Amino acid sequence: MEIVKASTRFETNAGYLSGEDISQGKKYLSELKGIFADRDAFDRMDPHTPVYEVQMHQSVVQETAGGLFFGISRLFPGKVGNEYFMTKGHFHQLRDRAEYYWGISGVGVLLFMDERRKVTAYQVEPGSLHYIPGHIAHRLVNTGNIDLVVGACWPSDSGHDYDSILQDGFLVRVYEQDGKPVLRLTENESI
Ligand code: F6R
Ligand code: ZN
Repeated sequence: MEIVKASTRFETNAGYLSGEDISQGKKYLSELKGIFADRDAFDRMDPHTPVYEVQMHQSVVQETAGGLFFGISRLFPGKVGNEYFMTKGHFHQLRDRAEYYWGISGVGVLLFMDERRKVTAYQVEPGSLHYIPGHIAHRLVNTGNIDLVVGACWPSDSGHDYDSILQDGFLVRVYEQDGKPVLRLTENESI
């Protein structure tokens, strides 16, 4: 019997996965149409601008009950108008599936929204740990000027429901004001 070396590595400082069973995808601005509030600013930007990338260790096939996925999300710094770059955001398709996020580098905000559209915003920073209960939509926002890198672990049968977010959006958005992040209701009221 021998001690087997891991076939996959998580480079903790760099925030990268390498080795076997890794899949990755990059999201460009063109794939985020309708997500940001300032449509004119969006149209003026280069649609090929990368906004974020996700690496994932796919240990089992999608929808397998009882398995786990492990991912690294890397959001680039940037804004559309005054609104910071963010992920599409989603509920899990199986609504009761929970997830862990943890901050690796950079700073940002993790938005939670429940099914009644009540929003809570958490600061993400290196070392911060976030338990995302089931029935909670989640979105990451990069409020800094370096990459925001966040680890994630979630059940392999969770699935992703992007449609309800594309339809109704998050009730709260994160904007830069005087060099600092501020939260504003989507209807532009201050909270
Ligand atoms: C998985 C999860 C993350 C996100 C990633 C990209 O359940 O929450 O791995 O998938 O941060 O965000 P979305 O999927 O909203 O484009
Ligand atoms: Zn998720």
